[in-house]
Amino acid sequence: MASSAQYFLLSSLLFFFFLFFSPSFAQQSFRPKALVVPVSKDASTRQYVTQIEQRTPLVPINLVVHLGGKFLWVDCDQGYVSSTYRPARCGSALCSLGGANGCGDCFSGPRPGCNNNTCGVSPDNPVTRTATGGELATDVVSVNSTNGSNPGQAVTVPRFLFSCAPTSLLEGLASGVVGMAGLGRTRAALPSQFASAFSFHRKFAICLASNGVIFFGDGPYNFLPNVQYTSQSLTFTPLFINPVSTAAASTQGEPSAEYFIGVTSIKIDDKTVPLNSTLLTIDSEGNGGTKISTVNPYTVLESSIFKAVTETFISEAAARNITTVDSVAPFDVCFSTENVLSTRLGYGVPTISLVLQNENVTWSIFGANSVVQVSDDVLCLGLVNGGSNPRTSIVIGGYQLENNLLQFDLATSRLGFSSLLFGRQTTCSNFNFTSIA
Ligand SMILES: *[C@@H]1O[C@H](CO)[C@@H](O)[C@H](O)[C@H]1NC(C)=O
Ligand SMILES: *[C@@H]1O[C@H](CO)[C@@H](O)[C@H](O)[C@H]1NC(C)=O
Ligand SMILES: *[C@@H]1O[C@H](CO)[C@@H](O)[C@H](O)[C@H]1NC(C)=O
Ligand SMILES: *[C@@H]1O[C@H](CO)[C@@H](O)[C@H](O)[C@H]1NC(C)=O
Ligand SMILES: *[C@@H]1O[C@H](CO)[C@@H](O)[C@H](O)[C@H]1NC(C)=O
Ligand SMILES: *[C@@H]1O[C@H](CO)[C@@H](O)[C@H](O)[C@H]1NC(C)=O
Ligand SMILES: *[C@@H]1O[C@H](CO)[C@@H](O)[C@H](O)[C@H]1NC(C)=O
Repeated sequence: MASSAQYFLLSSLLFFFFLFFSPSFAQQSFRPKALVVPVSKDASTRQYVTQIEQRTPLVPINLVVHLGGKFLWVDCDQGYVSSTYRPARCGSALCSLGGANGCGDCFSGPRPGCNNNTCGVSPDNPVTRTATGGELATDVVSVNSTNGSNPGQAVTVPRFLFSCAPTSLLEGLASGVVGMAGLGRTRAALPSQFASAFSFHRKFAICLASNGVIFFGDGPYNFLPNVQYTSQSLTFTPLFINPVSTAAASTQGEPSAEYFIGVTSIKIDDKTVPLNSTLLTIDSEGNGGTKISTVNPYTVLESSIFKAVTETFISEAAARNITTVDSVAPFDVCFSTENVLSTRLGYGVPTISLVLQNENVTWSIFGANSVVQVSDDVLCLGLVNGGSNPRTSIVIGGYQLENNLLQFDLATSRLGFSSLLFGRQTTCSNFNFTSIA
């Protein structure tokens, strides 16, 4: 039997432990203004992979970044061990936060991913375009805070909402990942959950590269050597809501969680590309328009847009004495590197400009983002033909986003974009990941 002295010691140790190590206390003593996570490009799938820590004890988990994903989903069937896993009980506020579409029992549990009286959602894999059912749950998530220049101390969200998924949903994803990090416009996606856990702005920024960075919260965002991005250094354009879900599974009437912008025309070296402008708007069935995607490695264009853009690009390239050569899959249009100059913004090829809300607001795509070097003497235009009836007419893909800082502001529904960081002699791989915790 424990003496009262021993009991007192034990309880004060417990108290000490609680006071100094409990996540909820840690949060109150230090409230971060922003968070930072690394994002690296997987060479074989060209997917962008980030890392956070989850569970108790915390383990690092790798996740494919899905910009338009509705929430975090994780494989709970293999290797999920945690003392703080909690299924979301039917009818709880968590079920509505997660947009649950059902409630049920599971007979092979209990274990993470399989519990009775738990609500479910439909985690989806946009690479294979498949969706499954998944148990909604919460667990501890930890990421690093940042002052904009370096990672600082790690902060914890004790009850971070996510969905379990079966191992089979990982098909088509980079090796070593255990799920997908959804950054979409829902309340359950990572940006909104972090913003509400730490009461910061519902803003986040992505900067993709072979070793890029994602920030949750507002800037300034700093890159070596001493290059700072604030809202003054970004150009803004409205984000549009597609009224019809673009996910592999959705409920009736659910809007898309993806980010759409309003491209109104396309210019190549100041030549306007002739386009059917109907394709550039989102119709009542949710077809058409322009979205930004981190799961498409290259920009995908509806076939008539693809044809018009490539023809104009070829003729503008010819004006610079740049000649076409045989195509190299998955690309249709390739050029000899002969007569192509190298510039600070990549190869000196025609500039593609996406004209946004008016003539003065354009997203310029320079050589570093438009052409892909496939061999010593061949460059290909990094665009893919999306066929004649794609759901979305223009899907701006990863290669076109790299080394551009994009800030998504959920509260005001606008996108801020930097233009190619090479213009200010930095890159998205230049965030200083040396911790100052
Ligand atoms: C769920 O409840 C059923 C009985 O209704 C029981 O047979 C089953 O073992 C329970 N499963 C879990 C995971 O608790
Ligand atoms: C925080 O950053 C350090 C250094 O970059 C890294 O080792 C650690 O895993 C990060 N912690 C979390 C919770 O991501
Ligand atoms: C972040 O902290 C580091 C180390 O204390 C400091 O050098 C840097 O100036 C800080 N950056 C900002 C934007 O406060
Ligand atoms: C433009 O695209 C719309 C939507 O696909 C189509 O209905 C229409 O026929 C097209 N117009 C022309 C002139 O091709
Ligand atoms: C293209 O080549 C022609 C003939 O070789 C030459 O006269 C012309 O100046 C070149 N134009 C450019 C833009 O280099
Ligand atoms: C675009 O910029 C020009 C020159 O600065 C200006 O005269 C014009 O009003 C601007 N147009 C719009 C739609 O803002
Ligand atoms: C990165 O940040 C650390 C910590 O602030 C600093 O000591 C180091 O000099 C920085 N690296 C460079 C290349 O500036």
